[in-house]
Amino acid sequence: MKTEHNKKLSVTNTIVKIAKPASYFIFLLLTYTLGYLSHSFSPPSLPPPNFPPPPPPETSSILRFSVIDTTELASFRVTTQCSDPIPPEKIYRELIDRIFNGTSPFTDFPQPHVAEKLLRSKKVRGWGSNGAVFENLIRKVNPRIIVEVGTFLGASAIHMAELTQRLGLKTQIFCIDDFRGWAGFRDDFKNIAMLNGDVLLYHQFLQNVVTFNQTGSVLPVPFSSGSALAKLCEWGVLADLVEIDAGHDFLSAWADINRGFRILRPGGVIFGHDYFTAADNRGVRRAMVDLIAKIHRFKVKIDGQHWVIDSTYIH
Ligand SMILES: *[C@@H]1O[C@H](CO)[C@@H](O)[C@H](O)[C@H]1NC(C)=O
Ligand SMILES: *[C@@H]1O[C@H](CO)[C@@H](O)[C@H](O)[C@H]1NC(C)=O
Repeated sequence: MKTEHNKKLSVTNTIVKIAKPASYFIFLLLTYTLGYLSHSFSPPSLPPPNFPPPPPPETSSILRFSVIDTTELASFRVTTQCSDPIPPEKIYRELIDRIFNGTSPFTDFPQPHVAEKLLRSKKVRGWGSNGAVFENLIRKVNPRIIVEVGTFLGASAIHMAELTQRLGLKTQIFCIDDFRGWAGFRDDFKNIAMLNGDVLLYHQFLQNVVTFNQTGSVLPVPFSSGSALAKLCEWGVLADLVEIDAGHDFLSAWADINRGFRILRPGGVIFGHDYFTAADNRGVRRAMVDLIAKIHRFKVKIDGQHWVIDSTYIH
């Protein structure tokens, strides 16, 4: 009897233990969803959320707001509408001009002071970079433009470039990454060189693209995913295929997937890594991808370790 009671108690405790974080998580998702919907969409059928009118502001908060110079916020503001799309064949030149002041980053590469520090191996380390999902999607979409968010050393970008060539496609692959790795990444990648404490990831990525003779199809966009995706949207750069594989924490992934959606050409496909792996964070990532798909009324499909959302199929 006593043990029965204890069992019940511990079951109840477990449920409470699970339910509490779950309800926090759902609350968090709801907050994000509402914030996101009210901020960046004018959805066709969703009515605007009905909020009670804000309480009259107190003098102190007025004072506090008045000292913020609003022009300081300009660079943090996400413009809600992407510009009209520019023709795909013009995108490469546009990015060379806008990002690299008109000169390809592969021109005069490598400079003598870094040349001796770079690896010239045909083995590029990555995670799930050769999964069947890449070939499946490239065959299906025949992409002219691919945007990869989270490139690291370029393994999957180079793999995609080789696939598109084998299939006779003229595809440009743009790789968004700040090429800083992450704090502590050298624990696992000790052979990436450093110069005055600066990891040479960007140069090593360029070197890998050169080693695989893909300088004509792979171009870095060497900035953080948030600012780069916002700029592509502002410049009217849309992609047929968007791959999301950057920061796996909730906030980064949430922002990357939502921003990735904005630059997806209608009928394009967006996909990402780690749906069912350990990095899934016990279902949090799955729940998030499912929620974002629901917001856009699409379905999530699974291909190996990847989630895939095909915008041709409305839910
Ligand atoms: C950018 O390009 C212009 C025109 O070619 C050149 O005059 C200028 O020096 C370049 N700026 C930098 C920082 O390289
Ligand atoms: C490198 O790629 C170009 C096309 O982009 C091709 O013309 C050339 O033959 C390739 N070189 C090698 C060594 O494979």
